[in-house]
Amino acid sequence: MAEKRFMVQIQNLEKFFGEDRERVHVLKGVSLDIPEGSLYTFLGPSGCGKTTTLRCVAGLERPDGGKISIDGKAVFSAGERVYIPTNKRPIGMVFQSYAIWPHMTVSENVAYPLTIQHRPKAEIKKRVGDVLKIVGLQGLEDRPAPKLSGGQQQRVAFARALINEPKVMLLDEPLSNLDAKLREQMRFEIKALQRRVNITTIYVTHDQGEALAISDQIAVMHGGKLIEIGTPHQLYSRPKRKFTATFLGLTNLIEGKVTELGGDSKSGRMESSKGTLSFIPAPSLAKGQPVVMSIRPEHIEVIKQRPQVSENVLEGTIKEAIFMGDAYHCQIAVGDQLLRVHTHPFLSMNIGEKVYLHLDPQSCNGLPAEDTEGVDESMMGL
Ligand SMILES: Nc1ncnc2c1ncn2[C@@H]1O[C@H](COP(=O)(O)OP(=O)(O)OP(=O)(O)O)[C@@H](O)[C@H]1O
Ligand SMILES: [Mg+2]
Repeated sequence: MAEKRFMVQIQNLEKFFGEDRERVHVLKGVSLDIPEGSLYTFLGPSGCGKTTTLRCVAGLERPDGGKISIDGKAVFSAGERVYIPTNKRPIGMVFQSYAIWPHMTVSENVAYPLTIQHRPKAEIKKRVGDVLKIVGLQGLEDRPAPKLSGGQQQRVAFARALINEPKVMLLDEPLSNLDAKLREQMRFEIKALQRRVNITTIYVTHDQGEALAISDQIAVMHGGKLIEIGTPHQLYSRPKRKFTATFLGLTNLIEGKVTELGGDSKSGRMESSKGTLSFIPAPSLAKGQPVVMSIRPEHIEVIKQRPQVSENVLEGTIKEAIFMGDAYHCQIAVGDQLLRVHTHPFLSMNIGEKVYLHLDPQSCNGLPAEDTEGVDESMMGL
């Protein structure tokens, strides 16, 4: 298999804002490698440093330490005193306020980066035609920008970012100005567009649903640090950190202490207020350590009769059951804890009913309870 090539490489990125006592440490040694042609997402809560990282890649912000390379060439290196300005970096950008110019037509907007470079008219016309075709706006060349829908304006912004044939596209919350329905629809469009053009793309969002839907890989950030990197599947099904488990999707956490770890690290047991539970341990977990076990609502099975097996079976009482069409969303009391459980819509769920819950050990992730060094606990799970 051909070796994976990285289009963007970030090493030990450091950034401070402000002076003296106002000085804040915003990026704390961020390192990541972005494979060529991938859609790579920075995901994390507000203020975690996503935009700052992106702006450092773009050259709009000067880091205080570390190194950034694009296509194997250093565009910033603190050690080697390299700083390539934005207009010399092979990037295209689309930001939240995508700022297309209202006094210009679609063509004029898209052509703008070439117009200011004084490219020949014929070349501009051809290239504008080509990118408008890519984003599906052919036929609208002469439409004034304000007479476009939100989604169409977004596509103009994409086309303008693509016109210089960049090696990397930088997208900072590009859908946040759109209403919920259009935003959902544009996810598919961005993904399809990125695949078609096959351009390495860094996508910034704080919306975990958006990140899961469109990304090849996600870098979860919190408090200026990288928490975990993985595919949407890996991060959702087998998170290694408590922050990832709670930030992506809905989950239940059960606290306890590790009592056993299988030699192969493929199984573990914990003692909790709900009894002994089995789980798949995160690599960093050790025997005797405090542990939180994470299990998603759709991985808890509700059984009406006492089951044959007893491993990972808890008794509970249905407190709430909301019919969602494709599922019931329930709250089930187990001891002093309310567990969120999603069940099949055909299974009747009666409030007050006693049930058994099976927590499939394969879907139970044992995570270190203390995994947030340097991270503000009060921000967890927002
Ligand atoms: N120019 C600036 N001067 C001072 N502080 C700044 C500046 N820009 C950003 N910050 C601070 O740096 C931190 C990271 O900001 P950043 O914009 O990267 O966050 P973000 O993850 O993109 O958040 P959001 O999801 O809200 O856009 C925040 O605490 C922010 O207040
Ligand atoms: Mg931001």
